[in-house]
Formats: sequence, C-alpha cells, structure tokens
Amino acid sequence: MDIEKLLSEMTIEEKAALCQGADAWHTVAVERVGVPEVCVSDGPHGLRKVNRDGVTVKAVCFPTAVGTAASFSRELLEELGGAIGDACREEDVHVILGPAANIKRTPLCGRNFEYFSEDPYLSGETAAAFIRGVQRKGVGTSLKHYAMNNQETRRLTVSAEVDERAEREIYLTSFERAVKGGKPWTVMCSYNKVNGVYSSENERLQEQVLRREWGFDGMVMTDWGACNDHVKGVASGVELEMPRSGDDSDRLLVEAVKSGRLSEETLTEAARRVLRLAQRVYAAEGKPEDFDLGVQHHQARKYAREAMVLLKNDGAVLPIRGNRKVAFIGQFAEKPRYQGGGSSHINVTEELSALEAVRSVCPVTYAQGFDMETDSVDAAMEAEAVRLAGEADVAVLFIGLPERIESEGYDRADMKLPPNQNHLVSAVAAVQPNTVVVLHNGSPVEMPWLNEVPAILEAYLGGQAGGGAVVDLLFGAVSPSAKLAETFPLRLEDTPSYLNFPGDKQKVRYAESIWVGYRYYDKKNMAVAFPFGHGLTYTTFQYENLRLSSPVFSGEKITASVDVTNTGSFPAAEVVQFYIRPDHAGKERPVRELKGYGKIFLNPGETGTVTAELDARSFAYWEEEIHDWYAEPGLYQVEAAASSRDIRLCAPVEVALPARKVTLNGDSLVRDALQIPGALELIEETRRRYGQGVMTDEQWQGFRRWFHDTPLHGLVTSLGLSREKTGWFVQELMNLQK
Ligand code: BGC
Repeated sequence: MDIEKLLSEMTIEEKAALCQGADAWHTVAVERVGVPEVCVSDGPHGLRKVNRDGVTVKAVCFPTAVGTAASFSRELLEELGGAIGDACREEDVHVILGPAANIKRTPLCGRNFEYFSEDPYLSGETAAAFIRGVQRKGVGTSLKHYAMNNQETRRLTVSAEVDERAEREIYLTSFERAVKGGKPWTVMCSYNKVNGVYSSENERLQEQVLRREWGFDGMVMTDWGACNDHVKGVASGVELEMPRSGDDSDRLLVEAVKSGRLSEETLTEAARRVLRLAQRVYAAEGKPEDFDLGVQHHQARKYAREAMVLLKNDGAVLPIRGNRKVAFIGQFAEKPRYQGGGSSHINVTEELSALEAVRSVCPVTYAQGFDMETDSVDAAMEAEAVRLAGEADVAVLFIGLPERIESEGYDRADMKLPPNQNHLVSAVAAVQPNTVVVLHNGSPVEMPWLNEVPAILEAYLGGQAGGGAVVDLLFGAVSPSAKLAETFPLRLEDTPSYLNFPGDKQKVRYAESIWVGYRYYDKKNMAVAFPFGHGLTYTTFQYENLRLSSPVFSGEKITASVDVTNTGSFPAAEVVQFYIRPDHAGKERPVRELKGYGKIFLNPGETGTVTAELDARSFAYWEEEIHDWYAEPGLYQVEAAASSRDIRLCAPVEVALPARKVTLNGDSLVRDALQIPGALELIEETRRRYGQGVMTDEQWQGFRRWFHDTPLHGLVTSLGLSREKTGWFVQELMNLQK
C-alpha cells in the first residue's frame, strides 16, 4: 500500500470519511482508490467479535487483567497476547480493543477486573508484554482508556482533576511504559475530561505527551461514543471517531477544512494515520496454523493457575492431600464468576466450574449455601452447608461478587461481599477448622472473617477454565505463584481516595495525589489485610547475595541480581520484586516504589538468579518546577522483596548525577536557598560585611534557628541590605551553582 500515492488521489471528502467508523466495528473502505476496511473488536481478555448479523462469535475467555497482572510474568502475558492474536486472525479481526492500562485508584471502580494494577510500573510492563504478544501475530492492539479513566461513575463527562506530579508518576507512567515497551498500533482515548478538557480533544495528551514525548507512531481512536467535537478531536490528534455517529461528522470535517478552521494538512495527516493502520494490519496474511479453540481452553486453564493468589494458608491446610473428605460449599463452585460484565463479555466456547473439574480428582460433597442473586441468608441452605462442612475433613467455600455488584458501567458502593455469604463463612468456619475460602471477584473485598479461616485463595475472575485452575491449585497439581498487583485494604475507609471518590457532578479531585495504593499505606504505616506484592506458594524461598553491577549510578543502566533458593519440598515459582527506597532527605517521596521484578521456577533445593535493570527513571520523580523527571543525587536502597512488606535484602546505591539547578526569587524561602551548596556560607559572609549593626551575634544565632521559612526578600534586611538588593542577592545565591 503506497500511502502517499493514495493520499494524493483522495478527495477531502474521502479523507474525512476515513476519520470515523463505517459502523460499530469497522473503519471505512474507500473502494475507489482501493483502501480496505479495518475490523476492530473487544478485548481485552479474549475476543468479542460481533458479526454484521449481530451474532457474537464464540471465543475463549482467558483470565481477566487483575489476575494476569498478578502473575508478574511478562512471558505469560506475551503468550496470552499471542493466543488472542491467533483468535483475531482466525476471525479476520485486525485490532483487539485492549489492553486497558488504567490505574486502580480505588477498589470500587467497576472495571478494576479489566485493569492491571495500582502500580504504574507493573501495569505498564504487563500491558507492554500483552501488546508485544498480540502484535507479533500481525494483529493490532488498542491501548485504552487514555487517560485518567479511573471510575465508572459519570465516566462520560467527569473531569479528573489531577496534579502534574500524580498525573506523570502514577497515571501516565502506566501508559508510557506500555507505549514505549509495546509500541501499540492504536490507542483509545477515554471518555472523561482531564483537568477540564475531554481526552478526545486533548492536544496536550495526544500530540505532546503521547506522540512527541513517547514517540507513539500509531492512530488514536475514541472510546465508543467519546467524541464530543469531531473537528476539535481531529485537530488535537484523535483521528478516528468510533463508532459511526452519522454523516454529520464527515460533513463538519469537510466544512472545517473549507472554512479554514482545520488545515487540510491536519486532515491529511489524520487520514495518513488511519491508512498506516490499514497497512500494518494487512501485512499479515492467512489464518493462524493449528488454531484450535479446545487447545486455547487448556491454555486458559494454565494461565489461570498463574493468575490466582494464595493469600493465606495457616497450618498448610493447602494443598488438600489425598483421602481427605472434602466438601465444596457455595454457589460459585457450580456457577463461577469468571469474567466481568460490559464490553469485555465473551461468548465462551465452554466453561469449567470447580465442581465439574474436581470430579476427575476426588469425590466431594456439595451444598449451594446461598443464592448469589440475593443478600439474605437462606437458613435451610446454610444449615445444609454447615452440616456437610462438619462431616468433612476440609470445607472449601466458593464465594464472590455477583455481576449485579461489579461490572463495567457502574462502581461498587462499598467493599463488602453480600451479607449472606459473609454469614455463611462464619457459620462454616465455626464447625470446620480446615475451612478454605476461594474468592471470585475483580477487586478487593473486606473480609470480616479473615481471622476465622486458615486459608484463602483469591481466584479473581479466572476465565472460562478458571474452575479447573482452582482445583489444580487446591489439590496441589501445581503450586500457586501469583502475587497481588494491588493492596487489599482492611476496610474501605482506609483507602486513599475515600474522601474524594467519585467526586461531584462535574469533577473528581485526585486529592491523594501520588499516594495511591501501597505508596499511601506505606507512607502512613497502616495495617492492611494483604499488601501489594503478597502471595504464598506451597514452598519456601531463601534470598541471598543481592548485588548491584555498580554501587554508583551515574547514568548508565545498572543491574540488581539476587539468588533465590527453593528451600521447601514443593516445586514452585517465586516472584521477586525490586523496590527503590530513597535514603536521603530530599523531595517528599514514597517509602518505596516497584522498579523491577522477575519470576523464576525452582525445584526443591534448586537455586536461580533473578535480575532487574535500573535506569535513571528508577530513581526519578516528576519535578513540577522543571516539568521533567529528576533523579535526585544521593543515597538509595535497592530492595529485593517477596512483597512490598516482606523486604528480604537491600543494597545501597549512590546516585551520582548532577543536582538540578535551584531557581529562586524574592518569595523563595531560606530553606529553598539552602539546597544550594555554599548558600549558608554566602548568607553568613553577607551578614559579616553589611549586617553588623542589625542584630547581635546572639540574636542572629537565635534567628538562624527558625529562619528557614523566611522569604529571601525578608532575609536581606536582616543581613543589612536594603530590600531593593533582593534581586542582586538572589542572583548571587543562584550563581553559586555555576
Ligand atoms: C468501552 C471500551 C470498549 C468499547 C467498545 C466502551 O464502552 O469503554 O473499553 O472497547 O466500549 O465495546
């Protein structure tokens, strides 16, 4: 496809036509010049292709993002992306609408199951791996929903009011890593406004940040119905309006070009970007080899095993060993909730419940226990469940959030499970000490019975074969290995956005700023139910010999490596996390931040090495004064950890980069000036020269104890200078940096 030749042959009308869909799922084909249509479909954890006759094709539903992120495995995400890419090729879909890299600002967001993490590094790395996996198959991705779409409440209009530092360090970093590490062919802009401007017409986000800063070379489409003003959208770098809204959209674009409101160049560039996408997707030909939905179902089970987190396992209740009498209790055993509601909902090829999967392992008794559609306790159902639990050696309780509580389109009102389910857990735990809870949910729940049960397996929404994976883990066919990609707070009131969610009619203030997830709980040293990065296995691991390729960071990448030994008796994989902790007094920073991770499978007795690369970004924060990243010089600790609250080893590293120049004015405080080496000496020297009559030495010493918050225009008079000399003195201070 010769794009420039095509563009030169196309009319303004034809270029404008390319800038909105032909329908809900296709771009416009311009047959006169031979431009083909591009077919897009949801996403993100399997294919939801709606045919032209309205029928949704069958596809395999893989575990949802909340779980795949918990795998902490780039390899798994690449493989999973590849499987979805194959499904797309098989169905002639050119672009899958995912991954979704929005940060989990609150556990209440109805779409958290589709999002990866509260941590931008993990979210971005995971999204990038997924993108690489899909696109390797010649199928495009659409990284969504860019940006600051962190709630469902009023998602089409609300303005996310976020400060520059939080925007960069938390929300945009997730997308940035995905863009740089995955190179998606398209990005989907979000519905909401960001600081008052719709994402669909936000030139700063689309052109400045996404394209100029991050080097994105693809096409931006709107979320479905996110277009507010199509002309403004195209002008600000959102090329494609989805779905088709009607002929007016084309007409307005053409008129805008004719009237000079939009330059023809801009329209041509938009059309060029749409054509480039067509060129990319048509580069791959034919169907994938050996495509088999049955095989994909087995893959889904394998991925799910890596996407479920063993939260608690006191007294090694799990794995359940042979010959034990087992009772399965709770409706989710029979009817697991394994995917979320909304646009990601897949028409599955088959589904496997734990109750069905366990048949090939051992006999179990089963009681429904509750009705997931209601909140009220059914006394008869509960009594039967308690009876079976009491008769067994182990009771496994399958509980979770039904779709009426958690879905795209609405947020949860609280973090609670339905009361009848909580009631049942306590009732069963009262008669059965070996009670195992298996949770089916897309986001954290409060666990009032946390101390009543010895074991909890977080199965999340594990995809259509999730029930099989639960059985594999419960009975020890494999060890769990996932770790939480989010904190489980004790209660909703503890969460950082509690006072500012979901905002008022127009705005939601991100007043917690960068203090999202573990950054907040750690800074406040708060107790949580389960910390970020936590997850158990059926074995134990020892960490040794944390080493850095250099104790000094002066700009070139360095590596951190740690040896891990499986010191237990079960083969399992360990997720090692590398955190950076600033160890010097400087800018207000989180206690620690995730900057690397790796996963390694080890047999009992086996030792392996996990390595992470650290670069300037690993040490940097967003400095609003310079509108840029800044790695402050000084001492940092590199921590090798089994979770954000289980730091095993640490090693110091000196960041030896030039300190940034401090800029001052008359309103700057003495404390700002004192960041400059030599500033105190200059102040003292100035006083000696000009200020002898102003204060006695004793008074001056007293003043020095609290002069940090004195503005420089006030300081100068204490030094014996007239106030007009402020500018000169400020310059003298800044000159110390030259
Ligand atoms: C969702 C997107 C989805 C699109 C198409 C929107 O409502 O926000 O995630 O890709 O619909 O179904």
